Amino acid sequence: MKIVIRNTAHEAAQQVADLIAGHLTAKPDIVMGLATGETMRPVYTHLRTLFEAGDVPSSAFTSFNLDEFSGVPPTHPGSFNAYMMEALFTHIADAEGRCFLPDGMADDPQMAAAAYEAKIAHYGGIDLQLLGIGRNGHIGFNEPGTPFDSRTAAVELSQQTRDVMTGFDSNRPHRAITMGIGTIMEARHCLLLATGEAKAAAVGAMLSHPPSLACPASALQAHTDLMIVLDRQAAGRLTEHQLLEVETC
Ligand code: F6R
Repeated sequence: MKIVIRNTAHEAAQQVADLIAGHLTAKPDIVMGLATGETMRPVYTHLRTLFEAGDVPSSAFTSFNLDEFSGVPPTHPGSFNAYMMEALFTHIADAEGRCFLPDGMADDPQMAAAAYEAKIAHYGGIDLQLLGIGRNGHIGFNEPGTPFDSRTAAVELSQQTRDVMTGFDSNRPHRAITMGIGTIMEARHCLLLATGEAKAAAVGAMLSHPPSLACPASALQAHTDLMIVLDRQAAGRLTEHQLLEVETC
């Protein structure tokens, strides 16, 4: 595990975009796992700038997003589909055939989740998984209590997650399809970004020993290639002991 702490959220996001760019340059046809959320918006902004400058190849990667709300049409501004279209997919060539999200409108969400999992396997698995973290420690929409070996599934969202949801006036979705923790753990590289004071407690819990189902992100302690990028605020509640471990990891 490697942890990098940058002064500001802007710098942390830029670093994550640069790391993604490095992977794309080394292997343009990489399979990426993508995340949405407010934390990731500046990452995609930086990435778009690199693509537009022609510095980084953008035409050969495949991507699988972590999650999508159930019962929310892809055209709804609150959907992760709409988010990704705006943030990235309309800025690259042929996204439709190679950039995938779970089908939030599926009649049978469990079947759609299993199909998504199979599709990831068909593409050879995820090379680089981008992750944010929820205030309650969720990764993807794997809420506290989710078994660490969970696979892509239709899940219920916690009230805490629904309370901070953006993009919906009312009628916030109750359910989503998310890659499982076990699915995420199989990615060859994981890159987690957390910024802001609101994430400090979750980041502390993620790195507390031993890993606990109460903090889904703590499963990542067992990942063999994990990079965590934080700003000073998100790192604010790491104990001296945790920071010491960071340096030796
Ligand atoms: C999004 C996702 C979530 C978010 C998390 C943080 O695809 O899987 O785990 O990363 O909820 O969201 P923000 O960045 O909005 O605080």
